[in-house]
Amino acid sequence: MQTFGEAVELASSCPLPQAVGDVAERHISDDLLKVLRTERLKAPDTLQVAPYQATPVCGAITHHHAAGLHIPDEERPEEERMAAINETIQKYEKKLAERTKHHMGYPYNLDFDFGALEGLTRYSINNLGDPFIESNYGVHSREFEVGVLNWFARLWEIDEEEYWGYITNCGTEGNLHGILVGRENLPDGILYASRETHYSIFKAARMYRMDAVKVSTLETGEIDYAELEASLKANAGRPAIINVNIGTTVKGAVDDLDRVLDILKATGYTEDRFYIHCDGALFGMMMPFLKQAPMVTFRKPIGSVSVSGHKFLGAPVPCGVVITRFRHVLALSSDVEYLNSRDATIMGSRNGHAPLYLWYTLTRKGYAGIARDVERCMRNAHTLKSMLDQAGVKTMLNELSNTVVFERPREEAFVRKWQLACEGDIAHVVVMPNIDIAKLEEFVQDYISSRARVAIAAAKRVAADARAAEAESGDGDDDSA
Ligand SMILES: Cc1ncc(COP(=O)(O)O)c(C=O)c1O
Repeated sequence: MQTFGEAVELASSCPLPQAVGDVAERHISDDLLKVLRTERLKAPDTLQVAPYQATPVCGAITHHHAAGLHIPDEERPEEERMAAINETIQKYEKKLAERTKHHMGYPYNLDFDFGALEGLTRYSINNLGDPFIESNYGVHSREFEVGVLNWFARLWEIDEEEYWGYITNCGTEGNLHGILVGRENLPDGILYASRETHYSIFKAARMYRMDAVKVSTLETGEIDYAELEASLKANAGRPAIINVNIGTTVKGAVDDLDRVLDILKATGYTEDRFYIHCDGALFGMMMPFLKQAPMVTFRKPIGSVSVSGHKFLGAPVPCGVVITRFRHVLALSSDVEYLNSRDATIMGSRNGHAPLYLWYTLTRKGYAGIARDVERCMRNAHTLKSMLDQAGVKTMLNELSNTVVFERPREEAFVRKWQLACEGDIAHVVVMPNIDIAKLEEFVQDYISSRARVAIAAAKRVAADARAAEAESGDGDDDSA
């Protein structure tokens, strides 16, 4: 047998755990170990109880099975393999174009052109570690990342020297980070968030094993201020970590930050005993551009703000931005030799392309271009609401929102076609920059046709039942008379 010299004592020379198959005696039966994914798919009309769900789910949740493309193992000539790959990709591209055309439900801006950056997909750009401290990995985009962060720092009015932040993978990561910073600064804090808060906030509470209070909401979807006040009073002995929504997921409701601050003051919470995270996934990127809107600003005693990058700005990959105060982030930073950087982010490797997309959009559009997009979306949201109102559909649109809420369509095929997000009896369209009036018109026409089909089918069912009842009682028209 070949030998390789003196064996080095590695950690793996510790006894390794035995493979399950080798264990002679098992305490758990095979049946219990086998949990099959497809058996857990929800059939239509299954009522859902989701652990992190913000609002109680009262609608039906159907799990549409996502199928996987087969990856063949057999040897094939290179040409044949490439032809098959190209065909699959072309088909997929067509599907993407079609799905993009009929998208209304999620707050994603699908209107962008990053053709100028296409060449950069040849590089594995990774900003692992702290955005402000270069790691030894040189293929990064920190200059773009810090540029974008400085732009957001100006937007939310915090001095470059006083802030810390990074480009995240999504709004959820920004929320996970914001709440973590709050928890690390106030370890005994209780998390307060409204019922209609995005599920990622309650997910953070579970991940960090925090006590959390779910506060009721008003009709608009805003937090119930009276209930928040009562809750804060009841728990006055412990610090408060509060999530303030700058646009809730379903109704686009904006919690009144100033009112929350007044409540904290009135209930005796000094600034060292509370931490506020602002979840502005979509609307946090729009509100600063609306003249009459209240300001989200670090001039107020807030701890962090996060937004999604792929939402209002638009990007081919999910991304986001979180900004906090540098003094706050110290509580969770540590130097890592392997990175030759500092670790204060949730993820390790970080998408280095995302900063390029954000930098490109901010630079191309500028403040004025973004303001124009915001204005058009707000106008078009009102146009959609009016169109639906005229058609006799019940609607709701918060003053500070581009999310038009309306009655949930009954036809599942319609919901799927327009990729609508539904909750209970309601659905919404988030009017994004890629949605123009022609698209709204097409959508409304389709919606009205769908409602008419459902109404006609219901009327026909009533007629059929009545006919059957008549036939049974022998009371029908007697044509023979
Ligand atoms: C209010 C709110 N917060 C957070 C998120 C999560 O953002 P992301 O999907 O980028 O993780 C969303 C997503 O829709 C949201 O609406």
